[in-house]
Amino acid sequence: MGKLYVFDHPLIQHKLTYIRDKNTGTKQFRQLVDEVAGLMAFEATRDLPLEEIEIETPVAKAKTKVIAGKKLGLVPILRAGLGMVDGILNLIPAAKVGHVGLYRDPETLQPVEYYAKLPSDIEDRDFIVLDPMLATGGSAVEAINSLKKRGAKSIKLMCICAAPEGVKVVQDAHPEVDIYLAALDAQLNDHGYIIPGLGDAGDRLFGTK
Ligand code: URA
Repeated sequence: MGKLYVFDHPLIQHKLTYIRDKNTGTKQFRQLVDEVAGLMAFEATRDLPLEEIEIETPVAKAKTKVIAGKKLGLVPILRAGLGMVDGILNLIPAAKVGHVGLYRDPETLQPVEYYAKLPSDIEDRDFIVLDPMLATGGSAVEAINSLKKRGAKSIKLMCICAAPEGVKVVQDAHPEVDIYLAALDAQLNDHGYIIPGLGDAGDRLFGTK
């Protein structure tokens, strides 16, 4: 079973409080999501392998470490996942960014892929799927399906808020995927919103309320 990480770092928790607050406006909300995504990426990349190389400092030769040739791919689920990209790229500027767009079929209520554009060397990359909200889990499962059917071998999921229902759906469908969260909330309401959550992440990021 993949691991479930809920980051309790004080900076993440502090910023999350203001992300949740309904009085936080679009500009600050976007900034805070960006910052939290960066802090989460810092933790979620702890397992990147290192290798030793030799360099020369201005005063001596030194054996020091660099990341060992790992290629990363970020895959925001459109549209709210876009809000997490820049904060991670600030830390990992060489990461490639793919996109997956999903809509909900009005009859089956299942997410259906309408757009997918991913890096061509998909089998060689470690992917992090991004969506601020892991609610029912349907979109995350479908986005991971999109990556897998194109050959992705290594996939993590990073969300800011999750409902336990969504975590279970992802773990059942993709048991090997590690999930990274800033908060595991209480539940979903009848409209599919996470409680207490933060409202509609896409609307709050893009000011479309
Ligand atoms: N998507 C959101 O943006 N918010 C929720 O609470 C659930 C799904």
